[in-house]
Amino acid sequence: MIITIDGPSGSGKSTVAQKIAQDRGIFYLNTGLLYRAITYLVYEDPTSPLFGRYDDDIELITRDQLDALPTLAYAYSADGATVFVHGQDIVAKCYATPGLDQVASKLSALPVVREFLLDVQRDIAKQHDVIADGRDCGTVVFPDAEHKIFLTASLDVRAQRRMLDAKVQALGLTFEFVRNDLAERDERDENRAIAPLRIPAGATVIDSSDFSIDQTVEMIIKVVS
Ligand code: DC
Repeated sequence: MIITIDGPSGSGKSTVAQKIAQDRGIFYLNTGLLYRAITYLVYEDPTSPLFGRYDDDIELITRDQLDALPTLAYAYSADGATVFVHGQDIVAKCYATPGLDQVASKLSALPVVREFLLDVQRDIAKQHDVIADGRDCGTVVFPDAEHKIFLTASLDVRAQRRMLDAKVQALGLTFEFVRNDLAERDERDENRAIAPLRIPAGATVIDSSDFSIDQTVEMIIKVVS
């Protein structure tokens, strides 16, 4: 079984998807984390062959170079989703590195990167029943998914939720900065030529602006039951 949840940054997809994975006893596939993990190798890991290739050079990244990257091992357990590189858990770095979000958004607009991660995502879903969250899970990665959800919330609500995140608080970012950052990523994710953020055909659309996480989870469980 495959359930997809797509939606913009900060809509609560991953929190909700993890709770549903626990409730249903299925595997959680956080596709954004895979895009972040590739970005980590380009942006932060000096041993990676693509280290430093996030400016003008980004467009020149090839499939051979991606194939030569250290293996990204995705795992999911009761503690959450993890990616290991060289046996090291890189999740904290994927979320807490300043600027990584924006580079991830740029890298994820490259066809070669999306193609590379397509295989990774589909391979995971061959091994488990999954709930996958991201931007193109219901449109491109798993178009035949049994259940598709599009989860959204207003920009202000998403920015307010981000401000409550301990990782954002640790960086000392202002509401204005966080709101602009989300708006910029929305713009890029929605308008890129390949696999833009779209409501998948047949998806149930949920605007969670006025609902708590638990209320949203309840609504989705009703849809997928
Ligand atoms: O969900 P997130 O914010 O962790 O995702 C990080 C970036 O990856 C985001 O800018 C969009 C991109 N992404 C994507 O293009 N397609 C997906 N299925 C998931 C994430």
